[in-house]
Amino acid sequence: MAQQVEAKVGSLGYLGIGVKDMAAWRDFAANVLGLMVAGEGSDGATLLRMDEMSRRFMVHPSGEDDVIFAGFEVSGKAQMEALEAKLNKGGVETTRATDDEKKARAVVDMIHCKDPAGLRIEIFYGPKVMFDQPFHSTRPISGFQTGEHGLGHIVLTVPDMKAARHFYEDQLGFLISDYISMELAPKFSIDLVFLHCNPRHHTLALAPIALPKRLFHFMLQLNNLDDVGSTHDLVKSRGIKLGMDLGKHTNDHMVSFYMQSPSGFEVEYGWGARQIDDATWHVTQHTSGSIWGHKRAG
Ligand SMILES: [Fe+2]
Repeated sequence: MAQQVEAKVGSLGYLGIGVKDMAAWRDFAANVLGLMVAGEGSDGATLLRMDEMSRRFMVHPSGEDDVIFAGFEVSGKAQMEALEAKLNKGGVETTRATDDEKKARAVVDMIHCKDPAGLRIEIFYGPKVMFDQPFHSTRPISGFQTGEHGLGHIVLTVPDMKAARHFYEDQLGFLISDYISMELAPKFSIDLVFLHCNPRHHTLALAPIALPKRLFHFMLQLNNLDDVGSTHDLVKSRGIKLGMDLGKHTNDHMVSFYMQSPSGFEVEYGWGARQIDDATWHVTQHTSGSIWGHKRAG
């Protein structure tokens, strides 16, 4: 009898970013973030590695300065097809990847669809891994927390929160981690929703604000607090704009800071987040984003 699989995504496997200034991105990725520039994909994208996977970021010179696709990993064919059936039943049109698309992503198979805001969402299995050519950073960092947690997290700005929540929760199988209601200015607050699909506290957060960019930030989690501290020093010495200075978040308890990428959106660089065990986790709500710090840079 075929093994039953849950129709849900397992982790954020890769991100596609469209940029204007590729040279600036290559420098930023390698010499600030500590990612490994690993050549070009078959479609010309610059590949960035952070672990054994052949590509965690695919940077395209297409000029959007924004996320252009997000790839969610599933365990195999059965789980991909279970999700495909669920999406189709829910009225979401999916398309099977062409051979060229599979080659560009270096995956065994993949389907893709659009989220309610029009972002291309890919669901794949069988990524190419390269244990024989280990990840190494040109920066003296201890490395990134990935594995079953995926590459990190993304925060998306969404014009229609109800539609976004239906898609990510009911279709892709994300579970709520918690909520933060944040007052950004007197009488102006936004309600952020944090979602998980594995032990990482959140793989996705949704912000109901209309901004030109879909991507508010992506987060990379380091293995050691010193990686975050030494990178904070480096960012200051290179004159890179900080979005928010060092601080600790209320919900995932991560110690992090935010820096501006060459595309304008921010990158959160952090360490020490607590994890979720669905057997014991209970949903909470917060009225502040941080326990301490995270002061907005002026
Ligand atoms: Fe974050």
